[in-house]
Amino acid sequence: MTEKLGGIEACVFDAYGTLFDFNTAAAGARDELGPDWQKLSELWRLKQLQYTWLRGLAGHHAEFWQVTGDALDFSLAQLGIARPGLRERLMQLYLRLGAFPEVPAMLETLKQRGIRLAILSNGSPPMLDAMVRNSGLENAFDAVLSVEEVGVFKPHPSVYGLAAQRLTLAPERICFLSSNGWDAYSAKAFGFRVLWCNRYGQPPERIPATPDGEIGDLSLLPDLLA
Ligand code: LAC
Repeated sequence: MTEKLGGIEACVFDAYGTLFDFNTAAAGARDELGPDWQKLSELWRLKQLQYTWLRGLAGHHAEFWQVTGDALDFSLAQLGIARPGLRERLMQLYLRLGAFPEVPAMLETLKQRGIRLAILSNGSPPMLDAMVRNSGLENAFDAVLSVEEVGVFKPHPSVYGLAAQRLTLAPERICFLSSNGWDAYSAKAFGFRVLWCNRYGQPPERIPATPDGEIGDLSLLPDLLA
């Protein structure tokens, strides 16, 4: 059972998979993709993340928009899917990913308690702005931070450092939330307090460092802040 976290002044959220459901892009083109939509969604996400890590290691940074398109191209080719206009349609759907159902009320509750709220994401600023606006969450956050400010993807420590710096808070005053295990573990290694929003029931990662706790979705977050 996860213990309550004391002294938290801000919550910083990962975007894709944590606040916003990346599966809603491929699901939105189900009429064209048929039953393959889930396979495409899974592979697209996997390749997207792999490309961020590969580019980071090789020192070949590119914006998340390009990486997302490259990963989609690979995935469509791998699955042998070729339909005119489908790539463009999926990329546009990626700008309108739906927020998970519990997100708006959870953010409102935290805001009323005086907790500052931010997004910290690989997404480039136009991608994040579009997604936040399309979900009607444009007034919910004190800051929407993109890795583009530091020019390298997660889990580079300078990304997590950006949030602490912009919020002018010591890392231990920040609770970081991610559904991506590797992101949650790496944020903990940086020095944040971390709750892993383990939506997909993943086993523990084998990298430094273990998060402070685990929750199944974000509705449980307000109760875990003392
Ligand atoms: C993000 C990815 C890692 O939003 O989900 O940064």
